Amino acid sequence: MTDTAKQGSGPPAPPAATIKSYRQRYETYSRIPATGRDRGDILREMTEMRDLEEARWGRGFASGSVYHGEREHIDFLNKVYAINSQSNPLHTDLWPSAVKFESEVVAMTAEMLGAGLSGARPGTPDEICGVVSSGGTESILLAMKTYRDYARDKKGITRPQMVVPSTAHAAFEKAAQYFGIEIVHVPVGGDFRADVAATAAAITEDTIVLAGSAPPFPHGIIDPIEELSELARARGIGFHTDACLGGFLLPWAEKLGYPVPPFDFRLPGVTSISADTHKYGYAAKGTSAVLYRGHELRHYQYFASTDWPGGFYCSPSFAGSRPGALVAECWAAMVAIGEEGYLENARRILETAAAIKRGIAAIPGLEVMGDPLFVIAFRSSEVDIYGVLDAMTEKEWSLNGLYKPPCVHLCTTLTHTQPGVAERFLADLRDAVAWVRENPGAEGRMAPLYGMANTIPDRGVISDTLKRYMDGWYRLA
Ligand SMILES: Cc1ncc(COP(=O)(O)O)c(C=O)c1O
Repeated sequence: MTDTAKQGSGPPAPPAATIKSYRQRYETYSRIPATGRDRGDILREMTEMRDLEEARWGRGFASGSVYHGEREHIDFLNKVYAINSQSNPLHTDLWPSAVKFESEVVAMTAEMLGAGLSGARPGTPDEICGVVSSGGTESILLAMKTYRDYARDKKGITRPQMVVPSTAHAAFEKAAQYFGIEIVHVPVGGDFRADVAATAAAITEDTIVLAGSAPPFPHGIIDPIEELSELARARGIGFHTDACLGGFLLPWAEKLGYPVPPFDFRLPGVTSISADTHKYGYAAKGTSAVLYRGHELRHYQYFASTDWPGGFYCSPSFAGSRPGALVAECWAAMVAIGEEGYLENARRILETAAAIKRGIAAIPGLEVMGDPLFVIAFRSSEVDIYGVLDAMTEKEWSLNGLYKPPCVHLCTTLTHTQPGVAERFLADLRDAVAWVRENPGAEGRMAPLYGMANTIPDRGVISDTLKRYMDGWYRLA
């Protein structure tokens, strides 16, 4: 299928963007230009690219990706960035503002996630504490490294193992690879939630941590965190709630009366949580919070060097120097939006998601998976769901194709609450399903890729393909 070839019922599809779409349009630099370019010219070029890209996500065509997106909010964050652009939290003496912002982002996030009801007294070493990282993946990596080092030191575990549901984010697998931790994936149940009994059966003497998600990325159904964390508590091991996606939405959903199972520090077995400020916290990209029950665990995350010729050196997360402006933006977003704003945004998102969920369920041939709140996954036993994904891509949508089982999801954000977006999504989806029904076996992009992946037992081949795909990002010609 070419970019424009596939036009079913519904409006003609615009050409799909490709990752090298600027090659013809703008100069490509393979070396630093001999003389500097005019700054105004650079800004004009970047503004053009921004406008081209915003035309897609700004009209609500993206799943997740941009969680707020309203112009006034973006302009405000940009002003905050401009004021703080030189700030680096590594140099606390130069930028005490960064220390203030980071400690308050941690405190506000902890309070939102049940610190006050956790039984841990603020100001004591048992308090809920944490740091700001660069994103969800870093928060998860940090937490897993922390549990590895804690278990090695306290329990002498040298062949550490983490037990996570199969739907846990790929960041857990990345942590396993990076830090030499064995990852045990436990298949989720028919309801797409973690299987508590199977998790219990998978625990060994080398298990350092269990995890669950609130909610997991693929199907958006919150894991039974209470049962899982009790399992961990009973065995004296850590429990991490991955609330990267839901951490800044579920607390407000609960206040609005939606059915939100417990997932935060109110549960005594939850020893750490990742919650992404750069998702439903509405901060600019590049921040997340990783929180721990007690200073002792957090100490296992920290790095301190005592004998370096560069002097005593310490840093709380993977980075050395860090963008203080991003922490400032994060703080500013939280303080400017306030509880009232978060509640109102959550109300809009959840109502829109409910309407989309109902609309998908009403499309013949599609099935909504489980009963999600805002990440809505759907599949089909009648048409090729990846064909539907391809057809939606032709209609400008950037949805997430999921695997095992084959399905597609839309992660609802504020961009979808704009008038007409949900209706357009459902109309396009109805057309896409009809098109695939009329054109079974049509050549597509994702359908053959996942189809092929299913037939190749050697995952190394697929992994190599993905690595070559990434090589392409860096190829200039
Ligand atoms: C549940 C969950 N955990 C972790 C992550 C990773 O977050 P990031 O992309 O910020 O690294 C995501 C991202 O979507 C997520 O949905």
